[in-house]
Amino acid sequence: MKTPFIATLFLFIVLVSCQKKAVPVITARTVEPSAPKTEELSAPDLQTGKQIFTNRCGRCHGLPDPVQYTGKRWETIMVLMAPKAKLSKLEQVHVTAWVKENAAK
Ligand code: HEC
Repeated sequence: MKTPFIATLFLFIVLVSCQKKAVPVITARTVEPSAPKTEELSAPDLQTGKQIFTNRCGRCHGLPDPVQYTGKRWETIMVLMAPKAKLSKLEQVHVTAWVKENAAK
């Protein structure tokens, strides 16, 4: 009679510890999206944006001229291009601010 009880207890412990492992994964997911938001709160720096743009955006194609597109168009382009250039959220904020500052009016 003792062995099945221990086996059940063991199974229970395994299940509980597996559940406990699952919890931090969910927490990490909810923490991640909020982290860039606090980054985004810091003021975008245009000089930094220009520098990142010059260094990172001419690798695959010629360096685009910000005046080629409107600010609204740049927002869409930056969402597509930031992952291509492997920009961090903060770098993306700086570059987007700079191109929009110099965009077609
Ligand atoms: C890994 C390569 C790569 C990097 C790095 C890259 N791009 Fe691009 N870019 C592309 C490709 C490929 C296209 C054309 C295909 C497309 O439109 O999706 C493109 C197209 C564009 C266009 C034209 C969009 C249009 O609709 O006409 C603009 C503007 C642009 N990129 C800006 C940028 C900026 C700004 C950066 C830096 C943040 C950047 N790119 C970094 C690959 C890259």
